[in-house]
Amino acid sequence: MAPATPQNPELDRLYLDNAATSFPKAPGVYEAMLRYGQTIGASPGRGSYREARQGAAVLGECRRLIARLINAQNPDHVVFTLNTSDALNLAIKGIVFHRLRTDPDERIHVVTTAMDHNSVLRPLNALAAMLPGMFKWTRVPVDEEGIADPADIAAAITRDTALVAIVHASNATGAIQPIADVGRACRSKGVPLLVDAAQSVGHLPVDVARDAIDLLAFPGHKGLLGPLGTGGLWIAPGMEDRMDPLREGGTGSRSEHDTQPADLPDKYEPGSHNTVGMAGLIEGVRYVLDRGIDALRAHEVSLIERFIAGLDETPGVRLIGPRNPQRRVAVFSLVFDGTDPHEVAEKLEHDHGLLVRAGLHCAPGAHESMGTTDLGGTVRLSFGPFTTAADVERALAGIAQVAPVSAPG
Ligand SMILES: Cc1ncc(COP(=O)(O)O)c(C=O)c1O
Repeated sequence: MAPATPQNPELDRLYLDNAATSFPKAPGVYEAMLRYGQTIGASPGRGSYREARQGAAVLGECRRLIARLINAQNPDHVVFTLNTSDALNLAIKGIVFHRLRTDPDERIHVVTTAMDHNSVLRPLNALAAMLPGMFKWTRVPVDEEGIADPADIAAAITRDTALVAIVHASNATGAIQPIADVGRACRSKGVPLLVDAAQSVGHLPVDVARDAIDLLAFPGHKGLLGPLGTGGLWIAPGMEDRMDPLREGGTGSRSEHDTQPADLPDKYEPGSHNTVGMAGLIEGVRYVLDRGIDALRAHEVSLIERFIAGLDETPGVRLIGPRNPQRRVAVFSLVFDGTDPHEVAEKLEHDHGLLVRAGLHCAPGAHESMGTTDLGGTVRLSFGPFTTAADVERALAGIAQVAPVSAPG
């Protein structure tokens, strides 16, 4: 008897968790990282020999490409961070600490929304615990689609408000917030706007000038298709005078001074860089620029349309968040009637090789607003630029089989 063909379960696995980190990455990302590691290796800013200069050129090119993508004028205002959370911490705490240092008697207030991520909420709660009576934050509610009204955000701004922080696209439901209107409202009140672009950069057009954004926190490892451990904060000109660094240290520049330099990016980038990661991130951003945001978005919208149409034919499964593709990105929260989301995710992986996420997805306010907290959250699927129409069909087929109701009545 011929031996059975060995099964490689790895071959049959479909990654649908691009909201956590994109996979696969863009062509050339891993090769560029290997090339840097094997043939350059040096730490930029720490020598004037050729390899150190090549390292500095990698960082400069990465900043330049990101600045182009978000329509920022000065690449030096793109500051590298570990990830989006690190960028959000820098922006939120940097602004609050500056205010505290320069205006110690003033109360400090921050506005955010019910859809915002723990990477905004936890820094805010940490500040509230650290500064009792001095620091407060307001959570603006959202409508049934999970979208905040810019008028409500404007109304929440008080004379103490130092910052408005808003997620661009929800990692729980995919809902897109009207950030351009929020930007206008903030400008008219003279309050800086921080946008959490974790789920939007590389997926949606992001234009810091058009949308009146003052601080943009973004991951390198999601929509920009770069490696894990990369991210950044774009800082509008002048904001650096209103935001303290959270860390100090060597920059390779102005070594005669034992205080942190004031110029960007060094002010916020002490220590050696993740240059290997940035070498990879360059290829990711290049891919996004070459394919074009409009084309990437058109592909994503076509997948959204088909996925929602397929869900409509699947009894027992409910989509949370906007149905209109123009009001969402391809991050889908599903409720499987009467079934625990973790159980569903396990079945989708075990029986269908579908890699999805279950639970609250670090956005407890989103689930409170959508009424999914007591259900244990949702099952989340998220597509990326390499997700195909065939992948969507495969996901829909798996969902239909796991769905608790196979036919009405
Ligand atoms: C909306 C949102 N904000 C912040 C984060 C944190 O991103 P990072 O993992 O890059 O720190 C995420 C991660 O999923 C997110 O979806």
